Amino acid sequence: MQFKFFVCNFICFASDFIYMQTTMKQSLKIFLGEILNNDEIKLMNRSFDVIGDIAVIEIPPELEAKKKEIGKAILNFKHIKVVAAKAGIFEGEYRTRKLEIVAGENRKETIYTEFGCRYLLNIEEVYFSERLGNERIRISQQVKEGEKILAMFAGVGPYPILIARMKKRENKNVEIYAIELNPVGYKYMVENVRINKVNIKCILGDVKTETPKLGLKFDRIIMPLPKDAENFLDTALNAINDRGIIHYYGFSDNTKIFAEEVKKQCENFGYGAEISDVVACGAYCPKIGRVCVDLKINKK
Ligand SMILES: C[S@@+](CC[C@H](N)C(=O)[O-])C[C@H]1O[C@@H](n2cnc3c(N)ncnc32)[C@H](O)[C@@H]1O
Repeated sequence: MQFKFFVCNFICFASDFIYMQTTMKQSLKIFLGEILNNDEIKLMNRSFDVIGDIAVIEIPPELEAKKKEIGKAILNFKHIKVVAAKAGIFEGEYRTRKLEIVAGENRKETIYTEFGCRYLLNIEEVYFSERLGNERIRISQQVKEGEKILAMFAGVGPYPILIARMKKRENKNVEIYAIELNPVGYKYMVENVRINKVNIKCILGDVKTETPKLGLKFDRIIMPLPKDAENFLDTALNAINDRGIIHYYGFSDNTKIFAEEVKKQCENFGYGAEISDVVACGAYCPKIGRVCVDLKINKK
């Protein structure tokens, strides 16, 4: 019954997402048709992201002068209250990105809802990607009764909160710890744990120092820091149980080679690793994608 509920939820989420992207693209053309010519519309043809009631758009340099008009046109979408233009790339330790409000209300905080979980966040001060919803549910569905889980690099809490809520509905007991370095991300995670009425031990600090301090062994460790995960693999290996699972994220142009490299790194640290799955989960830039390798670790 519970499983069916989540399969239905997942199918609805995926089809809604595709439907939204298609209809938004079509509507975008209609709304922009009033202010841009056909060539300019083609430049804007990338679909935009929507986090809560904020649309995040990319303004091509050729259309910089028209960004406010474009923003106003996007406000025609019923549920959009703010239009923010990307003003940089994800960068720094906190993986945040500068945004410029080009239309609508002057705020960057919103509430994003996904699979029945609600996340309050400031889209500029913390990292959040609504494109990883399928990946979060994929991992949540693997979690079994009695697991002790460590969500490293937890951000505003989307992985641990979804797992906690899903297992609560399934009447499964799990113990979850979540570590985040960005104080703003940590503050939102604590608030989101409260909003979603789940039980997660939230920790502010560096995974490198906070994980050993817990003095615990985990059945599952999630490592969603694709840019730097290799610097923390030893920390995860030291904290994983024998036959525990590590979900290791990275960027690569070849999922198979990437998975083999991660397995080799585990072996170099003296651990056996069996690759149980390799999943491409989104684009980083043309030709390079985000990859998750699921590794079953055995302590030799
Ligand atoms: C790519 S984001 C992922 C956030 C979240 N898991 C999500 O999916 O929305 C990586 C997060 O790790 C945090 N971070 C970076 N280095 C860290 C460290 N050494 N210890 C703990 N958190 C760290 C960043 O602040 C950021 O929130």
